[in-house]
Amino acid sequence: MNFIENATKRYSVREYTDRKVEPEKLEQILEAARVAPTAANRQPVRLLAVQSPEGLEKIAKAANIYRAPLAIIVCADHEKAWTRPFDQKQTTDIDASILTDHMMLAATDLGLGSLWICYFKPDVIKEEFDLPDHLEPINILAIGYAAGEAADPNRHGQTRIPIEELVSYEKL
Ligand SMILES: Cc1cc2nc3c(=O)[nH]c(=O)nc-3n(C[C@H](O)[C@H](O)[C@H](O)COP(=O)(O)O)c2cc1C
Repeated sequence: MNFIENATKRYSVREYTDRKVEPEKLEQILEAARVAPTAANRQPVRLLAVQSPEGLEKIAKAANIYRAPLAIIVCADHEKAWTRPFDQKQTTDIDASILTDHMMLAATDLGLGSLWICYFKPDVIKEEFDLPDHLEPINILAIGYAAGEAADPNRHGQTRIPIEELVSYEKL
């Protein structure tokens, strides 16, 4: 499958079957994260893959993961991340989100559904998983086999702004 086919096929899955994600598939998803670029190659990201009923219950205290059988908590490391010297902007969110996007698209390529989640209580995640202060949970990626009807890959004509609104050439 080429890139754009995979990207348009992906949609936010909010209903999952009970089928577990095979270890080989999880391994490929995590490898997709590992090879992702980060600012200055600092790799300030830690992934917490959660599949056990106890772990998923802990996440459920902080977020709705729609009963997905696997969730990956993507944490950024404030002690390792690159900081732009001109305005002190740290690239933690950016780096964590590049890894998240790699994993999300890898999951689609492997026939899995996923949901990117930012609506969670970070303090609860930190407490439940004993995260040290320098690790900030940025995204949760829920992954599993989608139940229900798949979204139409041609929906973006209606669900996204037109390319002319998105892009300007040379000046805004
Ligand atoms: C940064 C980010 C955060 C998101 N957080 C949530 C969330 O907390 N809960 C949720 O149900 N969907 C969440 N989504 C999914 C978006 O709502 C969804 O991607 C968007 O509406 C487009 O729909 P589609 O993914 O089906 O194409 C998030 C997506 C992104 C990129």
